[in-house]
Amino acid sequence: MNDLLRRLLYLPEQASSYARELDYLHYLIILVTMAGSTAVFAAALYFYFRYKRRGAAPATTPEVHIPLKQEIALALGLLLLFILFWVIGFAQFVRMSQPPRDAMDVYVMGKQWMWKFAYPEGPSSVGTLYVPAGRPVRLLITSRDVIHSFFVPAFRLKQDAVPGRYTVAWFEATKTGIYPAYCTEYCGTAHSMMRADVVVLDPADFQRWLASPAAQASAVDPRRPGPRTEAEERAADLVYPTSARLGLVRQGTEVAAQQGCLRCHSLDGTPHIGPTWRGVFGTLVRLEGGGQVLADEAYLTESMMDPLAKIAAGYPPVMPSYRGQISPAETAAIVELIKSLHPDAQTGRPGSVEGSP
Ligand code: CUA
Repeated sequence: MNDLLRRLLYLPEQASSYARELDYLHYLIILVTMAGSTAVFAAALYFYFRYKRRGAAPATTPEVHIPLKQEIALALGLLLLFILFWVIGFAQFVRMSQPPRDAMDVYVMGKQWMWKFAYPEGPSSVGTLYVPAGRPVRLLITSRDVIHSFFVPAFRLKQDAVPGRYTVAWFEATKTGIYPAYCTEYCGTAHSMMRADVVVLDPADFQRWLASPAAQASAVDPRRPGPRTEAEERAADLVYPTSARLGLVRQGTEVAAQQGCLRCHSLDGTPHIGPTWRGVFGTLVRLEGGGQVLADEAYLTESMMDPLAKIAAGYPPVMPSYRGQISPAETAAIVELIKSLHPDAQTGRPGSVEGSP
């Protein structure tokens, strides 16, 4: 039944853990609306013949009265149906917006007109996302220029890529294979060419790929001296600037030192001009003027791009914006560094960071 409906509706195969569940809601809505419009059409056809003018027609059409109870019952029935759609859809939305805790992180960056992927372990790739089957993967998505949207039809996954901030999506691929990914936000001339392949590998094959010379060679040394030109930066950015032995955390340490972050933020827990980075990830930060915010990837990124948007209570609003100063890849590296300084960080590698610039 599932397969028949899927084919009838021209849906791609269901290759992620939640794809089938999502399709059930899709089938339900399509079937209900099809049944509804068929009923309306059949009624129209029936009335057309039943009340066709024959011979001498009466001067006025008799008035028809529907009992109020029937009208209310009908309205309530329709309302309940919509609430049912909403309840199912909301539960799915909640599930899809909460990545499992053991998810593997991959940074995704969109730019005109390509997709780039970087792994916290170091490797990166352009146009091909390698993931293991049967393991949740959390995507931290951003854009370098305009708004894009990362869409993998077979996974029923779609998430916008917004410059200057991170959006999060996750999936768990269920079968090995190659699945196309597209950009679904019109982003310029080559929007329709902005696509990528998601290669789902057997977990063992994935480990082999991670360790392969090809993957390791995709990483380049991030230490580029001197002021960078736009062209240089774009070229360097073609591959995420991560090096084979330098994971994102190490790279974050270097970027933080180069950019002077450590003049105001400490890595060891002591408050300075700005809050310390140690232990901040995953905590609730009290804000100046009341309220609090969860220090997640999105908040940390916003704090770098738009520091005055949310100011941590007790600190002066003196941080400059780093929008355009550091690339999305470098931003990701700093976020990884801050995450690694948290005791129960998901991808923390204790001891991999030296405290001084
Ligand atoms: Cu990127 Cu459309």
